[in-house]
Amino acid sequence: MPHHYSPSRSFSFRWPASWPNGLPTLGRSDFRSGREALYALAQHLKSTSLDQGKVLLPAWVPEGVQLPFSLAQWEIHYYNLDQNADPKWKEITQQLNNQHFDLVVLIHFFGQERNAKRMQNLLPAGSSLLEDWAHSYPHPQFRPPINGHSVLFSPTKIIGTTDGAWLIGPTIIKPTQKVDRQHYLFLFWQLLYLIGSTALQLNLPGRQWCKKLTGGAYARAYQYLLAGTNTPKALSKIGRWLIRHTPHNKVAEERMAQAAYYYEHLTQEKIRFLVKDNHLLHPLIGFPLWVDNPRHFSAYLQAHGIRGQTFTDRWWFIKEHNSSQYQSSKDLLEHHFLLPIQHRFTAQDLAYIVEVVNQYEGE
Ligand SMILES: Cc1ncc(COP(=O)(O)O)c(C=O)c1O
Repeated sequence: MPHHYSPSRSFSFRWPASWPNGLPTLGRSDFRSGREALYALAQHLKSTSLDQGKVLLPAWVPEGVQLPFSLAQWEIHYYNLDQNADPKWKEITQQLNNQHFDLVVLIHFFGQERNAKRMQNLLPAGSSLLEDWAHSYPHPQFRPPINGHSVLFSPTKIIGTTDGAWLIGPTIIKPTQKVDRQHYLFLFWQLLYLIGSTALQLNLPGRQWCKKLTGGAYARAYQYLLAGTNTPKALSKIGRWLIRHTPHNKVAEERMAQAAYYYEHLTQEKIRFLVKDNHLLHPLIGFPLWVDNPRHFSAYLQAHGIRGQTFTDRWWFIKEHNSSQYQSSKDLLEHHFLLPIQHRFTAQDLAYIVEVVNQYEGE
């Protein structure tokens, strides 16, 4: 039985300290998490307009994006996605012609670039765009927007840091909340989670114990994070240190190289790639596939020591009676699966995962 292949984040250190190449130093606000950054943005935009605040989100959306707007008491509307996770452009054009939105959120799903320029061109004056790059990571070729809209990164999804989010935009927004006990507890559980997942990846002894630790610590940290969404905090000192000692270029390069490897070597006919032509231009959070039955596929992979990712829990907020309008987005939620990408994988690890996937026989 091979060891354990998972997308979990773990510590990885590099000296001297550095900051990611491609991440702008000007016009950037650092937060503890993406959701707190979004809450702060929602409050900031509301304070500059007389409106209540109306946002247009993709129908398939994580709680981390939905909750900040709901807590800031914005009116939330949704747009549909096609089966490649791109906006359904005709529908969205109509929506934007019919009503005014203060903000439109474009998620670069899986870390693949979506057409922000096209979205920007559809927006009337007074409407702004947020590009959500939470599924990717800054890299030397990354270019921040030049036309006044905002960009969000959430490095806690990619690297071994306890906290951190970067909001880049026309205005600096300062987190207002001082740190409290809840914040330290959050950092404590995040640190334990990272210690456990690093031990698992390095194949240190005490596997079962480490598994329990990571599962429990992650759940506790998440509860504290959720509870702090509407009290935006700054990036912590420990988070800053961990980010500054991350091998940024290696993280980005490895992720792009692994996506390229999957793309070239997977020959499995029962699955469709959910990647576009430009999938090698930005680091991906995982290699996205369209699978008939992701549960079955996931169980098969787990039997071979491989764990992937699905974005299903807390990723759907549309009321049942409206769901049929967004069927293609729902299909995406129900059929996607991400193969793990992780900067510690070796060439042999990747070859093993590809071999297992290529041998999948379906249900
Ligand atoms: C696409 C996307 N954007 C933003 C967020 C929120 O980021 P954070 O987890 O840092 O609060 C998430 C979290 O699930 C996400 O998946």
